[in-house]
Amino acid sequence: MPQPCDLFIHSVQLASMQDNGVPYGIIENAAIAVCDGKIAYAGPMDECNYSSENKVDGQGKWCIPGLIDCHTHLVYGGNRAQEFEQRLQGVSYADIAKQGGGIQSTVNATRATCEQDLFDSAKCRVLRLLEEGVTTVEIKSGYGLNVETEKKMLRVARAIGEQLPITISTTFLGAHAVPKEASSAECYIDLVCKEMMPALHKEGLIDAVDVFCEHIGFSPEQCRKVFQAAQGLNLPIKAHVEQLSDLKGACLAAEFKANSVEHIEYLAEDDVPKLKTADTVAVLLPGAFYSLNETQKPPIHALRQHRVPMAVATDCNPGSSPVASLLTSMNMACVLFSLTPEEALKGTTVHAAKALGLTHKGQIKAGMDADFSLWIFQHPCELAYGINMHRPERIWVGGNRVQF
Ligand code: NIG
Ligand code: FE
Repeated sequence: MPQPCDLFIHSVQLASMQDNGVPYGIIENAAIAVCDGKIAYAGPMDECNYSSENKVDGQGKWCIPGLIDCHTHLVYGGNRAQEFEQRLQGVSYADIAKQGGGIQSTVNATRATCEQDLFDSAKCRVLRLLEEGVTTVEIKSGYGLNVETEKKMLRVARAIGEQLPITISTTFLGAHAVPKEASSAECYIDLVCKEMMPALHKEGLIDAVDVFCEHIGFSPEQCRKVFQAAQGLNLPIKAHVEQLSDLKGACLAAEFKANSVEHIEYLAEDDVPKLKTADTVAVLLPGAFYSLNETQKPPIHALRQHRVPMAVATDCNPGSSPVASLLTSMNMACVLFSLTPEEALKGTTVHAAKALGLTHKGQIKAGMDADFSLWIFQHPCELAYGINMHRPERIWVGGNRVQF
C-alpha cells in the first residue's frame, strides 16, 4: 500500500546533484515524493512507495534542484550606466572608485531612495532570477554604510523573502567602503564592529558577515576586526578577496574558517590548500570579470586539484556586475574560467548551498527542501551551454508550485 504524500512527480529524469558516483547525480526514470515541504523520496520510480492525489506526469522531462545565487548586491538605488561609459573610454574601475564614484555613488543613491522604491527595483531583479529557476538568493547590504541605510537594505531583502516564493539569505557588508562622513577607515571599522553589526544582528537582519578586502576597500587587519566581531556574535563569515590584487585576504578568511571567499582572481595557487583545510567554498563571479574586462583568471586548476568546492554566482550589482542571470553566469564560468557544465551546475546548487551554510538545499534527495524545477532538454549540460536558450517549464519551492 503506497504511502500518501503532498506531491508526487513521476516519469522524470533527475539531475539530482547527489554524490552518487554518476555525473550530475543522474537518476533516470525517477520519481519524487514531497511531504511537508521536504523531499521524502527521490530515486528510481520502481522502488518508490509513495502516491498522491497531487500527481504530476514528468513525461521524461528533466528535474534539477532549485538554483542558488549565493552572491548578490541586488538591493540598490540608481544605476551606474555612466560609469560603464567611462570604463569603455579607458577609465578603470579602481580609478572611478578613487574619484568618489563606484560604490560611493551607489551609496548616495541608496541613501536617497525610500524603502518601497528599493523593494520595487530589487523585486524586478529577483523575478529575473526566479524565472530561470533560482529559488534561493543571497543579498548583501553595503550601499548604506550607516546603520539606518544598512537596516533599510536588509529589511528590503527580508521583505523580498516574505513576499516572493524564494528563500533569501542576508549578508551584512558594512565593510564595503569607507563612507565620506567617516573621519578614518579605522573609526568606521570600529562603528561597523561595535555598533552597526550588533544592532542589526539584534533585529535578526543578519545571516552572515562579509568584507571587501582590497586596496580600494579594507586592509586585512581591518577585515580581521570585522571577522572577530562576527565570530563574537556567532555569525558565519564570507569575504570579497583577491579581486583586483593579492592582499592575502583568502588566507585570513581561511584562518577564520569562512564559509566562502569570493572573486579570488588574484588568489595565489600556494594559498589554495588553506581553503581546503578550512572547508571554505571558492565563489567564482564571472559576471564581474566579464563586465570589468579583466584578464587575470582565478586559479581553477589548483582549486580543482585540491578539491576546493567551487560555486558560481551573479554578483548582481550596479557597478562591477550588472547581471541578473544565473544561467548566463554559468555559461560565463565555462567559457571564461573553463569550468565544465557539470561544475557550473554544482556551483549553483550543492556548492552554492554550502557557501550559504544551507546544506538542506541544492540537491534532489530525501530530507532536502523540496525546491526544484522541470525542464525540457536532452541533457543537463545544455543549461550552461547556451545563453538564454532555456527556461524551466515549472518550478516548485517547498513543494509548492510557483506561478510566475
Ligand atoms: O562584488 N567588490 C566589491 N563589491 C562588489 C562591487 C560593488 C560595486 O561596484 O558597486 C563586487 O564586485
Ligand atoms: Fe560582490
